[in-house]
Amino acid sequence: MIQIAYVNGSFMPLSEARVSILDRGFLFADGIYEVSAVLGGKLIDNDAHLARLQRSVDEIALALPETSARIKEIQKELIARSGLVDGLVYLQVTRGVAARDFPFPKDVKPTLVMFTMEKDIINAPAAKTGIAVKTVPDIRWARRDIKSIALLAQVLAKQAAAEVGCQEAWMVEDGAVTEGGSSSAFILTQDDVLVTRPNSTAILPGCTRKAVMKLAEECQLRIEERTFSVAEAMAAKEAFITSASSFVQPVVTLDGSRIGTGKPGPIATRLREIYVEFARATAG
Ligand code: PDD
Repeated sequence: MIQIAYVNGSFMPLSEARVSILDRGFLFADGIYEVSAVLGGKLIDNDAHLARLQRSVDEIALALPETSARIKEIQKELIARSGLVDGLVYLQVTRGVAARDFPFPKDVKPTLVMFTMEKDIINAPAAKTGIAVKTVPDIRWARRDIKSIALLAQVLAKQAAAEVGCQEAWMVEDGAVTEGGSSSAFILTQDDVLVTRPNSTAILPGCTRKAVMKLAEECQLRIEERTFSVAEAMAAKEAFITSASSFVQPVVTLDGSRIGTGKPGPIATRLREIYVEFARATAG
């Protein structure tokens, strides 16, 4: 793969890609991002990501500089130019470059950047071994449904997890798990009910979460969208996370305590397989 970036209408080597230090993304985190997976050079569930992008920018009154259809073309051209086979396309739009002042600047074109990252999501060893998760307080703002580029709370959460050998952090508010630092959180209860927190302003509406829930429903799995506590997660039969960058990944320990057998559970493993089938069948 050649590292190519897209910046406001031009493709260039990633090492030459530049944005002004006055960009409002840099100064205020005044922007939105999306991450879409790529398998075999094709985008996975990308329409859902573009729909969420549109919703996020609408929520912060930021007009996309290109139509969704054009953004998809740019994503595809970027994949082709980079020669990306398996990995991710990162996309970010900010309110543009202007003198540092808090209110929205007038007549400023938003900044649109994209780049690709190689990642073998399918063969990630963690899919076989499962991951360790650490709980941390959820210290984020009150509009987590917006895919804001302001990720400091998640950076701190995931760093705290990494420092104790964990691969993800589950953020906790009022005793209940909200979501992972960069993923949605699921548990399977001892009586085989799949539980995940309902969408609200407390969490990001995960695209993978939505697809996995639909697939689980088709498999006749019982699903409850409700909050769950850390204690309930620790007592669960299985747990897993979902995201564009991991698909479905089993969680085998929470704060060092084993979940279920301490090995990836059959339901998480099966949902991962089904999701991968869905991803390949609908890739575009
Ligand atoms: N993160 N919750 C949070 C807080 C996230 O940041 C993400 C995605 C998800 C899962 O959403 P989706 O299934 O649509 O990828 C849930 C991306 C991958 C990231 O920040 O890298």
